[in-house]
Amino acid sequence: MRREPALPAIAAALALNAGLAGAVFAGFGAGHRGTVIALQLTARAAFLCFLPAYIAGPLAIWLGPRLHPLRRQARTFGLAFAAAETIHLLLVAWLCWIGHTPPLATFVVFGVAAAWVAWLAALSFTTLPLSGWLWWSARRIGANYIAFAFLVDFSATDPFRNAKGLIFYLPFASLSAAAILLSLITTLRRAAPGFRVNRPMTVPPGGPASARGKLRL
Ligand code: HEM
Repeated sequence: MRREPALPAIAAALALNAGLAGAVFAGFGAGHRGTVIALQLTARAAFLCFLPAYIAGPLAIWLGPRLHPLRRQARTFGLAFAAAETIHLLLVAWLCWIGHTPPLATFVVFGVAAAWVAWLAALSFTTLPLSGWLWWSARRIGANYIAFAFLVDFSATDPFRNAKGLIFYLPFASLSAAAILLSLITTLRRAAPGFRVNRPMTVPPGGPASARGKLRL
């Protein structure tokens, strides 16, 4: 059986977020405050895995072959993000268990994002007979929604309110907004007549056909 190449990154992301949550619980307790801090930190760690997966494709389109090494790792970053997000969701379950269930709207907006994460991660292990454009669009809709969910949460607190806002909110809100903008502009560029995808020159281990199912955000 072929070893899953993203396995070390998945394990590292799981360990990182589990470690972060454990450290926060040790320092602040496993009550409401500790759990919210752990949620905030694990969301940021997950975002840092998500970002390269999300922008690798668009950046490679604008900047060309220099970005192909990053683009080839996009699936690995995406799966690491899914793993990191799992710890975030476990913390959500814990928050509910200790009697602080988030509002329904949070479940709707972020539940849809979590469903997209699971769907995109599952798709990355399969091959669907879709055209290149359809494949790309299906991935971008999900990835854009997840990016939008990050932006919503990072902007929910006024980033200019105090030093905490400037350090913990402003950079993350700015990065998510810039990444969404890049993604949308790239979609317009791809939709323009005569656009041709500048693909990496390498052939995947299973031959060219095996590349079709390798889903990237
Ligand atoms: C892909 C899915 C998700 C993303 C992208 C995401 C994103 C985030 C982000 C960015 C934060 C930090 C907010 C801050 O620092 O103020 C956060 C915290 C949090 N998330 Fe998630 N989340 C997701 C899934 C969920 C789900 C499904 C729930 C539960 C319904 C949830 C509940 C929470 C809660 C309760 C917090 C703490 C908010 C606070 O500061 O009080 N998240 N999430």
